[in-house]
Parts: sequence; structure tokens; C-alpha cells
Amino acid sequence: MAQTDLPNIVLAANDGQPVRDAGLADSALAVREMTVSYGQKPAVFSVDASFGEGRLAAIVGPNGAGKSTLLKAALGIVPRLSGHATAFGIPVEHAADRIAYVPQRASVDWEFPTRVIDVVLMGLYRQLGLLGRVRTKHLDTARSCLARVGMEDFADRQIGQLSGGQQQRVFLARALAQDADLYLLDEPFAGVDAATEKAIIDVLKALRDEQRTVVCVHHDLTTVADYFDDVLLLNVRKIAEGPVAQVFTADNLQKTYGGRLATVHIDQLRLAAG
Ligand SMILES: Nc1ncnc2c1ncn2[C@@H]1O[C@H](COP(=O)(O)OP(=O)(O)OP(=O)(O)O)[C@@H](O)[C@H]1O
Ligand SMILES: [Mg+2]
Repeated sequence: MAQTDLPNIVLAANDGQPVRDAGLADSALAVREMTVSYGQKPAVFSVDASFGEGRLAAIVGPNGAGKSTLLKAALGIVPRLSGHATAFGIPVEHAADRIAYVPQRASVDWEFPTRVIDVVLMGLYRQLGLLGRVRTKHLDTARSCLARVGMEDFADRQIGQLSGGQQQRVFLARALAQDADLYLLDEPFAGVDAATEKAIIDVLKALRDEQRTVVCVHHDLTTVADYFDDVLLLNVRKIAEGPVAQVFTADNLQKTYGGRLATVHIDQLRLAAG
């Protein structure tokens, strides 16, 4: 399996000299003039966005809006037509050891048998090294990460035998094992039940409370105000970004969804006054 097929991609460290970008130093993640195109039409067009340190942020927009593409382009997983991305003020490539990424679940296919505990241990590979021996302390760390997502009893199960929601918890445990400063999660709540959703958001809020930064692609407009501090509204272009209390407005949502959201739906949301 290629590295990019793994559920939490750990980026290769880069030996080059970091270049500081002073203006972006207090952002955990910033993209500038990011344009990505898979064909004729751009999937992401000229997006400037930044995510402050110690914040819990959502990227929101309709299907095909370029949300996953923006994260992947920021991480260098898909090529950028133009633009650049920094993490903690330096190019993302140089900050790879501070970033954990959990891709959209549909993109992960576990064909070969792997135990849950081994999936979580993959998050420790920087500590372990390529051929490093797994020691008791590594197993303890992996087990405690599983416990944080309520999956400690599943350590010896095959990952392919878990339900989708259980797998999602394991992938989060693996990201926790990475002990990152910036967590990028692509739809962590997709297809999970209410109990799993609660478990996941509690973990994400705890990470934020430890001054780490969490950025989630998110689809459920009804929970944006409860879950997130900041939101980036995206539809190929950036529609708005900032604190949920300021930018999560009916007007911005209509712009993001091109008027396709029913008024009745909008009326049920906890929106900013705008
Ligand atoms: N590997 C690819 N090759 C060609 N086109 C792609 C590829 N990945 C994405 N696209 C296209 O780029 C656009 C943006 O896709 P992307 O997956 O970033 O959207 P998204 O906002 O994450 O959507 P969703 O909410 O459905 O996950 C879509 O039109 C999609 O069809
Ligand atoms: Mg997506």
C-alpha cells in the first residue's frame, strides 16, 4: 500500500532549511493564492485562508466545493497550480512532524489484515523509526490513545472487521499517537452514530484546549455553532472565513450553497446575526 493510501498520512520530514514567513507565523496553517485544477476547471481557485493556533475550525461547503482538495493541496498530496501553504510560519513540508492528517473515510480501503493496535502504532513511526522495535512504552501509548476514543477493547481486532464508525475512532487514535500540533481531519463525523460523534468532538475539543489546532471538513450545518470556533466557507473560491459568531450568516451560507439551501433549513440553524 502506498503511503498516501494510509488513513492518517504522516508526511516525510524535509532536511532543507525552513524559510520563515513572518506574516503567517501565528497561524497554525495558512494557504495563499491556492489554485488547484484536475482538468480544465479549477477545483480550488485563488484561496487565501488561515487557521489560528489553538482554535477548532471547520471547512464548510457543498459536495465538490474543493474542501478535501484544499487540505490535500496544503499538504502537498495533490499538486498546486499556484499558491503556497505554511504551517506555524514555515512551509508545510518543513513542519510535517507537527501535522496529523486523517483523510475522508471513503478514500481508505483496508485490503490486508492489520490489527487495530498496529494501525495506532503507525502513528508512532517517527519515534519507532522504520525498523524500530515496538517497546512496552509504545504499546502503552497506543493503548492509551485507543482508550481516549473508547476503543481499548478492540486492540487485537482486525481493522477491516470494524464498523465504519469504529474505524473512524481508530484513525483518530492513530492521529493522537502522532502527538501533533495541527490536526487536519476530513469529515471525521461522516456516517458515525451520535455516541461516536460525541466521543470524537470531545477529543477534538480537548486537543483545542491543549492549545493544539484542529481543522475539520464538516457537513452538518446544524452543529457548526456548537462545535467550532472558526469557519471557512468554501465553494471553489473562499466565500468567508473567521469566527463562527461573525461569518456563519444566512447571507454567507446562501453564497456558499448558491441559493440551494431551503429557507426553512436556514431558519433552523444557530446563525450569526450578519
Ligand atoms: N483525483 C481527482 N481527479 C479529478 N477530479 C477530482 C479529483 N479529486 C477531486 N476532483 C474533483 O474536484 C472537485 C473538488 O473535489 P473535492 O473532493 O475537493 O470536493 P469536496 O468539497 O471535498 O466534496 P465532498 O463534500 O463531496 O467531499 C470535484 O468536482 C471533484 O470531482
Ligand atoms: Mg471531500
